[in-house]
Amino acid sequence: MQLLDGKKAAQAIKEDLTQKTTQLTNAGKPRPHLAAILVGNDGASETYVASKVKTCAEIGFESTLKRLPATVTEDELLQEIEALNKNEEVNGILVQLPLPKHISESKVIQAIHPSKDVDGFHPVSVGNMVSGAPTFIPATPYGILLLLQHYNIETKGKHAVVIGRSHIVGTPMSILLSRNSYPGNCTVTICHSATKNLKELCLQADIIVAALGRAEFVSADMVKEGAVVIDVGITRVADASKKSGFSLKGDVKFDEVAPRCSYITPVPGGVGPMTIAGLLMNTYNAYLKKHS
Ligand code: GUN
Repeated sequence: MQLLDGKKAAQAIKEDLTQKTTQLTNAGKPRPHLAAILVGNDGASETYVASKVKTCAEIGFESTLKRLPATVTEDELLQEIEALNKNEEVNGILVQLPLPKHISESKVIQAIHPSKDVDGFHPVSVGNMVSGAPTFIPATPYGILLLLQHYNIETKGKHAVVIGRSHIVGTPMSILLSRNSYPGNCTVTICHSATKNLKELCLQADIIVAALGRAEFVSADMVKEGAVVIDVGITRVADASKKSGFSLKGDVKFDEVAPRCSYITPVPGGVGPMTIAGLLMNTYNAYLKKHS
């Protein structure tokens, strides 16, 4: 069993982007600039956004964090997005999800100009991805592809089972793994809460991507010997022994599943850092597109 070390793979990507940013500034060019909007103060969202902003600083990107209260109106939020769309210095815009219930996520996503849609959630980006045109790929599936690539994992002809059909992870992951490219060329099965024979399907999988958001859902009896297991879950579970009062659990029972795997991602330190790497790659690509 080999660990797919997302921290290490992300570090390699960050070093590459740091070098590229240094070359830009040496040539007198502006730095790539990511703008993030955080509405309210959900604990997990705070952590994710802080981590995105911190990583921008580490690699020499500019970042702007716009914080808005949970009571902000949809109109006010849309105006903030419009200002960032018009801001020539901003290359990428992300609005951290989820949003308060009185705000339409789809309206917000559609307000972001597709040229700055580094989350890849805009219908134009999704349409381009489905039709195989170059575009922004959502950060988590993009990060998973980069991780598979980093470890040279063979994917052609493999049966990939994706558990979860979210627009952020499961759905794009299933499309990307079925594309005629590397990493890809898989036969893909997408499973969800209405899937009847989940265990049987998982047992046929050469690659499992667990992205349903239920702590320790995937057990050893669902995993074929030698499978590659990618764990996207990061559920907060109460844990009195931790200072924060919680620990992070993946969607996979790591201790019992790992011995069966050829490769497996840990939680934390697997997909999480790769998601940020994917976002930074998208921001750099948005910058290049504007400045080429
Ligand atoms: N919430 C959970 N994952 C994501 C993500 O990748 N992007 C944004 N904007 N919000 C999220």
